Amino acid sequence: MAGSRTFSIIKPDATARNLTGAINKVIEDGGLRIVAQRRIKMTNEQAEGFYAVHKDRPFFGELVEFMTSAPVVVQVLEGENAVLRYRDIMGATNPAEAADGTIRKLFAKTIGENSAHGSDSDENAEIEIAQFFSAEDIVG
Ligand code: CMP
Repeated sequence: MAGSRTFSIIKPDATARNLTGAINKVIEDGGLRIVAQRRIKMTNEQAEGFYAVHKDRPFFGELVEFMTSAPVVVQVLEGENAVLRYRDIMGATNPAEAADGTIRKLFAKTIGENSAHGSDSDENAEIEIAQFFSAEDIVG
């Protein structure tokens, strides 16, 4: 494997505006390879399971509703220090704080509708990838 892997979601606000290709270009220009990708409509169960760590947060209901409101693109990204690299490419969670050229600065609307998700650690990347992909889906 060339480097490590992270898990990415292109969120409903982005797919609704036909931005999958534009976001993939930022990812690839940033040095990561898209080694698995699938467009899905998340179910309530999938979104609640994926974001279970946030279940006591006040925005949890809103988050699940948003993530199931339109298609998402789930992805596995590969490269040197993929988790940190992708967090740099995405920019800060709140687009108002995101650096120029990042996905969230370029495309995100609000802290909730922020166009992309990326894993926050190697351990969580492995857990998140396994929720949507099996080993044979990933071609590095
Ligand atoms: P993500 O990286 O997918 O992980 C959790 C998500 O919760 C986060 O991106 C945001 O989209 C969302 N989130 C975080 N804080 C808020 C907030 N204050 N209001 C609404 N959504 C939030």
